[in-house]
Order: sequence, then structure tokens, then C-alpha cells
Amino acid sequence: MSIEFNASACTWTLSGGSTSYVLHRDKQDRLLHLYWGKRLAADALRWDPRDYSSFASFDLPVSILPHELPVCGSGWYGTPAVGIRGADGSEVTDLQVISSEISAGKPPLPGLPATYTEKSSEAQTLSFLLCDKATGLMVTAQYSVFESSGAITRSLILKNGGTSALTVTSLMSASVPFWRNDLDAVHLHGAWARERNIVRTPVAPGELRISSARGASGHESNPFLALCEHNTDEHSGCVWSVSFVYSGSFEILCRADNFGHLRLSAGMNPDVFSWRLEPGETLVSPEAVLVFSGSGFNGMSQLYHALYRERLARGCWRDRSRPVLINNWEGTYFDFDEQRLLSIAENAAEIGVELFVLDDGWFGKRNSDNCSLGDWTVNLSKLPAGLSGLSAKIHDMGLLFGLWFEPEMISPDSDLYRSHPDWCLHVDGRPRTEARQQLILDLTRPEVQEYVISAISAVLSSARIDYVKWDMNRNMTEAYSVSLPPERKKETQHRYMLGLYHILETITSAYPDLLFESCSGGGGRFDPGMLFYMPQTWTSDDTDAVERLKLQYGTSLVYPASAMGAHVSAVPNHQTGRITSLKMRGDVALAGNFGFELDLSKLSVNELAEAKEIVARVKHLRNLTRTGTFHRLLSPFEGQHTAWSFVSPDRKTVLLCVYQALSIPNCAPLRIRLCGLLPDAWYEAADGSRFNGAALMQQGFTVFLRGDFSSEVFLLQAL
Ligand code: DGJ
Repeated sequence: MSIEFNASACTWTLSGGSTSYVLHRDKQDRLLHLYWGKRLAADALRWDPRDYSSFASFDLPVSILPHELPVCGSGWYGTPAVGIRGADGSEVTDLQVISSEISAGKPPLPGLPATYTEKSSEAQTLSFLLCDKATGLMVTAQYSVFESSGAITRSLILKNGGTSALTVTSLMSASVPFWRNDLDAVHLHGAWARERNIVRTPVAPGELRISSARGASGHESNPFLALCEHNTDEHSGCVWSVSFVYSGSFEILCRADNFGHLRLSAGMNPDVFSWRLEPGETLVSPEAVLVFSGSGFNGMSQLYHALYRERLARGCWRDRSRPVLINNWEGTYFDFDEQRLLSIAENAAEIGVELFVLDDGWFGKRNSDNCSLGDWTVNLSKLPAGLSGLSAKIHDMGLLFGLWFEPEMISPDSDLYRSHPDWCLHVDGRPRTEARQQLILDLTRPEVQEYVISAISAVLSSARIDYVKWDMNRNMTEAYSVSLPPERKKETQHRYMLGLYHILETITSAYPDLLFESCSGGGGRFDPGMLFYMPQTWTSDDTDAVERLKLQYGTSLVYPASAMGAHVSAVPNHQTGRITSLKMRGDVALAGNFGFELDLSKLSVNELAEAKEIVARVKHLRNLTRTGTFHRLLSPFEGQHTAWSFVSPDRKTVLLCVYQALSIPNCAPLRIRLCGLLPDAWYEAADGSRFNGAALMQQGFTVFLRGDFSSEVFLLQAL
């Protein structure tokens, strides 16, 4: 049983994997948090009021109680999990537990992405119904615990059970107190083309806030934060983490108070969110996923990887190896015609590529990024045989055909804008701020959602299309839908996301065989929300192999390799000007969903032969890189070397990838200690040398890399 109720102590213990989470209903019907960490027996913990009543203080006891759902107005001064403004303008709330229920499995979240179960035995769900008697607000706090991993998901369902309208001013899907503050915070920080750098900082009194107000999860911060002990590393120590399953603006707060306590909360960003609840209306918060690891950051990541790969991603591609692709973007940008595309595809087919992706520039009159978004009709002067003709020719070469869209956008220079100038996000009487010379469609509006669904579906049905790259290339401005009344204007960003999720659900279910990859100027929306609809994301617009080490290493903190698009591009690299070998570019990209993004006709005969070998190797290894357990071994954030490995589920096959940025003179060979092997097995390398599993884990595997930007990949097989 994953959830056990102890009636005499009035505690609920949620346990799975090596984790437990304990809740208590006190005599005043408050829902309190007792514990989250290493697995405990169900009756191991009881509420001890002395923890909170034995010291005299200016502060009210309520301000230091370990609330599961802190609310404001009666002595709690932190961020409320649920903040409500009543009809009288006051924001006092008091949530008391009315009932609780344990059920098998995990219910879906209506209209929102969420992890799921395939068999009800995989998880159990605990729901509390709480009420604020004065306003009639009803809150259902839903906790699901996955049996095998101990991942705990949380979401809140708010219902106005009163007679007057309420305004939701704060909505944090998870809010977890800690009895200690001697911890570090770890999060992912970046910018366009350098997303998801790992940042680690000691927790200090006050607040650490990571957030986005951009209307997308964004390049700058990722909806993830972990707390860990000072000595936690990749392989040992405790980590408590939260990942927010949402693709829009968010807030994750880590607040260390004046009593040595700390609170981690994750939810909607109140700067750009509020919600009016009329009597009878409901609002569902996005899901927060809590993962605890007692075995360092690798342990945490492995739990997220398995959950997001197998119980967040959906559809037939979830469990399939992804095709080796070629994308024409960096090869041609907007400068292509059918002939040029076909010659790239021909070369690609010869080296074993399986999917040709036509990127931006195939529609309207788009020859640069200044027009035509919204006009999803093929440009016949570039592609005289249309998409169906081009796709047929590509298929005749034995390749699948994929297509780029940016469906959420509208160019001021487009037929769509000329017919519907009011369909973009804007505020009447103010300039419409353009970014990349484009505006954003107001997806809060059902007629705009319908347009996007029908325009994209028309293209998808017009030709044989096997793959879609769904791009989104700017952040929101003037995000106050003209279709909403003043008191609902601050709902725009969340309503946009609900509209987008509706569109994605409709299109991905109508075309279940298509492989979808999401993108937002590279990794500007690399989040669990998008992975629910599309099993892979374009990791970054930075394709430089050395930069990619940090990008893929940082991304792997939360997301599996099966979620990361990774391409070999031309040198000098277009983002950094760096020249790296084809070998290194291949060795880096094979650790994700492998592709090329260059004009293969510009490669020499020798390079083409090498590219062909790389493709063959990728095909040989891709099942292992998709399903294997990923271990980070050497960090690019700490030196010139990066190493990671993929270990097959039966632990008999291991792929070790080692990379060197700048070479260090007079340097001893690297000794890389492997993880997750069978200690008693003997592993054989490609050159026939043999190693004992325990020795590889304790003593390490010797690697010597020579020269700047070099790499080696080793496949070891248990005998
Ligand atoms: C941004 C994406 O990240 C690129 O890969 C490419 O698709 C361009 N948009 C096209 O405009």
C-alpha cells in the first residue's frame, strides 16, 4: 500500500520507492506537514505540538506551523498556497479539512498536462477536501504517489461553493515546509542559445525566487528547483526537488524564515496571474512533481527521466526509437527551392538518414523572418510541386517527411493579420510590441484556437507528413486579451496556455502517428508541460558541440535524453564560430535524438563517409540511449572534461561518452569511475580488453584524450 492512514495519530504516510511523505490533520482540522524524505514505516511519525508551542515568541504559532496549504490573513506571512480575495475585498482565508479519500491510480487533470498511470496499481491518490467557511471556497488537494519511484504529484482544485465571486490571487500547487535551512538550492539558469546552466547556491535567510513572467517557461529559468545537503553530489546525499508541469509563466520560491525553517513552493506567478471564480466555477492548478533522492543528483534525475519518458510523454513514439533526421535550417535558412532541398535529402538518404525536415520559409511569401506567419499555405514559387509533391519525392528516396510550423504567431505582414487585426494579443490604444517582427495570436479566444486547429490540420492532411516541429519564437507583451472584461484581464496568460493545450491535445490526437517536436527559439519552452504533448524538444539553437556539453548536461538534471533534440551542424559553428571535428559533433549529438542540420553537399567525400559511419553507430546505440539509465560522471561546469554514461536496464551494456574541451598539458589520463554496473560481471570493450564490473566502479576506466575538442565513446558489453 502506497498510502496508509493511521487513525489514532491522524496521519497519512505516502510511500513509494525509497521515499515517504507524511501529513497530519490536527485537532483544529488544519492540514499539517510532518515529513518528506527517506522511506519510513507508516507509524514512525506523530505530530508533536511541543515542536511549535514550547518557545515564547512575538510571532503567532500559526506563522510557524508546518502548513501544507498556508493561507493568509490570520498570522501567516509567507506566500499563501491559496490566496483569495473575497467580495468584500479582504484576503483572509482559513482552510479546514472536511474529508479525505484514498483511491487507486491517478486521475487526469482536466485540460492540463500531467503524469499518468497505465495500470491503477502504479500509484495511489489521496484527496483532501478543505473549506473556507466564510466564503464557501472548496479546495481539493490531490496527492498521488508512484509506487516504484516515490515521486509525489500535487495539484489543487478550487471551487467557489459560495454565493459571491472570488478572486484567486495566489495558487501554488506545492508548498512544502522544511525543519532546516542548512541546504543548497540548485536550479537551471540561462538565456537564448545557452539554456539550463546548473546553478548551485547556499540557502540564505530571505527568499530565492526563480520565475518567468514571459508567457512561456522561458530560456532564463526552468520550472525546476532542488534543495540538497551541502555535501550532496551526483552520487550521494539527499535531494528534495520540485518540477512544475506547465509551459507558461511560473514561480518557484525558496523562503528561509527567521526560525531556521524553509519553505519550497511552486505554482503560478502572481505578477501575471489572477483568476475570478464565479459561484459554482472551478479552477485546476497545474501539477507539481516532487522527487526525493537519497543517492545524490543522479538518483533524482533517474527518477525524473523514467517518469517523464514513460508516464508523461504519450503516444506511439513514446516507446519507439526516433528517426535520424536532417533539418535544413542551418543548411539553407530561408534560401532554398525544391531542387536544393531534394539534393540535401538525396545526400542524406545515402548516408542512412531517415527523416527530412523542412524548416521555416515554406509558406506564404516568407523569405525572411518579417512576414507570413499565420498564412499556412505553401509557397509555390519555391516549391512548385507543393508540399504533397515534395513529400512524395522525399518518400521516394526512402525518407520520412517533416515540417516546421509556428502556429501561435501572426506576422503584421500577413493575410491573416489583414483580415483579423484584432486576433493578436494587444491592448487597445497602445502600440503592439513586435519581437522578431511578429505578434502572438490570442489563444484565449475560441475562434482563434479553431483557426489554428483548422489551418494546421489542413496542411497536415494535404501531404504525407510524418513529423512536425512546433516552434514559438517570442515572449508575450500586452498580454491582456481584449475579449476579457477588466476583472479577468490577468487571466490572459493562463487562459492562453489552456487554449494552447487544447489545440495541442486536438491536433496530436487527430494525427496520432506523427512525431511532434516542440521548440521555442531552441529551448525556451523545454518543460514537462510540452513533453506531455510532444515527446521531444529542440534543446537549444546553439549547435556548437562544446556548448552542447553544458546544454545537454544541464538539461539532463530533469529531462531524459529521449526528450532532447541534438544535431550535428556545420563548422565554423554558426553560433560560436568554433571549429570542432565531425567526430566530436557526432559523439555529442548521439546522446540525444540525433540529427544533422547542415548542407551535406558541402561535405567532402571523406566527411560524408564519416557521417555515414556516425549514422550507423547512432542506429546501433539509439535504443540504449533512449531507454538506458543515464549517469552524469564528469561535469563541464567544473573543468575541461565531461563524461556521462548510459547503462542498459539489465546493466549488461554500458555506453561511456567522454569529451574534452581544451586540452591540458602534462596531464595524467582520466580515471572515470562508472556507475550502475553488475559488480561480478566482466565487461568487454570493442578492442577485446576486459574489465571487472566492481573494478570499473571502484577503480575506474582509463581514458586519454588528446587535443582540444576531442571525444571518445566506449561500448562495454558484459560477457
Ligand atoms: C527557431 C528555432 O529554434 C530554429 O531551429 C528554427 O526553426 C528557427 N526558429 C526558424 O525560424
